[in-house]
Amino acid sequence: MSAQALQGKHIVVGVCGGIAAYKTATLVRLLIKAGAEVQVIMTPAAREFITPLTLSTLSGNPVITEFFTANTGEWHSHVQLGLWADAMVIAPATASTIAKMATGVADNMLVTSYLSCRAQVFVAPAMDLDMMAHPTTARNLNTLRSDGCIIIEPAAGELASHLVGRGRMEEPERIFERLAQYFAGSSSLAGKHLLITAGPTYERIDPVRFIGNFSTGKMGYAIANEAARRGARVTLVSGPVGELSTVDDVTVVPVESAEQMLAAAEKAFATADVTVLAAAVADYRPARQFDRKIKREHDGIEQIELVKNPDIAATLGAQKADNQRLVGFALETDHPMEHAAEKLARKHLDMIVLNSLSDPGAGFGFDTNKVTLIFADGRQPASFPLKTKAEVAADILNNIESLIELPQ
Ligand code: CTP
Repeated sequence: MSAQALQGKHIVVGVCGGIAAYKTATLVRLLIKAGAEVQVIMTPAAREFITPLTLSTLSGNPVITEFFTANTGEWHSHVQLGLWADAMVIAPATASTIAKMATGVADNMLVTSYLSCRAQVFVAPAMDLDMMAHPTTARNLNTLRSDGCIIIEPAAGELASHLVGRGRMEEPERIFERLAQYFAGSSSLAGKHLLITAGPTYERIDPVRFIGNFSTGKMGYAIANEAARRGARVTLVSGPVGELSTVDDVTVVPVESAEQMLAAAEKAFATADVTVLAAAVADYRPARQFDRKIKREHDGIEQIELVKNPDIAATLGAQKADNQRLVGFALETDHPMEHAAEKLARKHLDMIVLNSLSDPGAGFGFDTNKVTLIFADGRQPASFPLKTKAEVAADILNNIESLIELPQ
């Protein structure tokens, strides 16, 4: 059980002023029960929502709010706490604290400790749905992501305002599980079956010529290798990619054409928990394939009639069961967000990875990529800076982990 991994770990729990602060009591109790040492920092506003006494009793440590204890003048060192921490979790994280963290406004103990923290920081936002949906919040959360924070996405449901939408802090049990998995080095993908398509497809014209594209397969292979490293059983349906290597646990099914890729993907899809469609599938194939080489003089061919290939993503999207997750890619040159969102809906995907072609160092053939993740469940898009494809694969899989049910 991954909770054992929390034994003896130093966890700083940051609490902001939001209704969800009462749930943080449960989080602290779970951490203490798992053998962790907990230091709680509250923002001044948090004290309006839950008493320091509750959290100090549960954590067994005084709760820190001020830089000084007023009557003794005792100085609380944010640097010390930042160095002491093996992880910091901010729950609930309000819009204003998220903004302060993103810009370095260090006017309270929580934000100064965050800035001094060398350990992994988890952020569990909680706010009203309009605040959550505001572009400012999305921008600030993306800044925190770029700075290395793990965002524990808020759930949808009834909010304190009685409005219904996304903004409710994730349940303390789920936050606890994310921390436990982090320390256990375990992933909710462990034991799951992942189907990944990668590379281009080649559509034969004759035995020596084909219609294809510039995809190298690097992104799909990076996802396959990282998923296998996280303990998933991986089936990689791969178009022709040349010399890419996979780790031992990946089963590679080599295919050439879109029709072959669809047949292989449909076979594996029956047992797939998560499917990631990273292949650049040719949209058309020649209506007729010549079984001998077309000769310039004799055949005099000037036009190739094309027919539409099957859309693998849309075909699987139409068959998808409730417990299956489907992730696609989109490579767009104009109106990227609109086109990617349209594809997400049309193909019944749960998430789409928007690839940048316009940024230097991103796209076909490069070892780096720059992506934005767009979700079907209404959460804000997540943008990442230019990273290696291995790092992008980790970002994509971290977000896929947040899409699948965590063990309770
Ligand atoms: N895809 C697929 N089968 C196809 C075409 C695309 O599975 N025949 C998948 C890709 O692997 C990717 C997503 O669908 O995950 C979007 O691919 P893209 O080529 O951008 O979509 P298209 O529907 O072909 O749209 P466009 O008109 O932009 O080419």
